[in-house]
Amino acid sequence: MKSFARVATLLAAVSSTLAHYTFPSLIVGGTTTTAWEYVRETNNYNSQAPVTNVNSTDIRCYTSATNAVASTATVAAGSSIGFACDNTMYHASVVNVYMAKAPGNVSTWDGSGTVWFKVYQITPVTNGGTSITFPTETESTVVFTVPKNLPSGQYLVRVENIAIHAASTYGGAQFYLACGQINVTGGGSGTPGPLVAFPGAYTGYEPGILINIYSPIPATYTQPGPAVWTG
Ligand SMILES: *[C@@H]1O[C@H](CO)[C@@H](O)[C@H](O)[C@H]1NC(C)=O
Ligand SMILES: *[C@@H]1O[C@H](CO)[C@@H](O)[C@H](O)[C@H]1NC(C)=O
Ligand SMILES: *[C@@H]1O[C@H](CO)[C@@H](O)[C@H](O)[C@H]1NC(C)=O
Repeated sequence: MKSFARVATLLAAVSSTLAHYTFPSLIVGGTTTTAWEYVRETNNYNSQAPVTNVNSTDIRCYTSATNAVASTATVAAGSSIGFACDNTMYHASVVNVYMAKAPGNVSTWDGSGTVWFKVYQITPVTNGGTSITFPTETESTVVFTVPKNLPSGQYLVRVENIAIHAASTYGGAQFYLACGQINVTGGGSGTPGPLVAFPGAYTGYEPGILINIYSPIPATYTQPGPAVWTG
């Protein structure tokens, strides 16, 4: 009992000193760009605290307090870009990357509407119930390909890391997210989809969001959100 109390105290101390994380930089042409240059500065730039209410407008770009606008990075369709995290994504977590085409100047667009499609995801590895592992846990970057048939133009690109280490009760999943601004050149004539809105894409009751990853160990995992559009 006594040693259990000591461990509990230690764990509480550890979790209060561990910061969470943000995604302040785009990676363009293999270079990690300046923090909050091409990524809209999120409300948690200091606290690093997650969004937990999927119905909040902050589930979109998390900028309700900063009202931040970023510069726009030019990237070629079919090229590789990414987001750099300011930590490792050390929670048991999954990743989704979504994009949405701005109707005009992306700097003056808020990303509202049923306009978002998924371009990349990182799922946990399951094996029928004996273990679940999270490839994100030791990573501090999310690198993906801008679909080569994506029409040229200005886009918001939204990275989302959903931490599910404490997701067995409703509202327990933690969303770490940010939106970058990119200008896609040399694109194609694809029709991205399926499209979702933020908020709207999630109710919070999805089997990959409201989930106990410990007991029993999930035999499979259902990634939240639509299928990836590969272009
Ligand atoms: C886009 O909007 C931003 C912010 O209002 C402005 O600084 C920029 O000049 C605009 N770009 C174009 C191409 O109009
Ligand atoms: C996007 O790229 C095109 C083609 O290079 C360029 O003409 C345009 O000015 C760029 N727009 C922005 C906002 O960077
Ligand atoms: C969010 O909205 C969904 C319905 O779209 C509802 O089921 C859920 O309870 C809401 N969650 C919160 C935290 O308001």
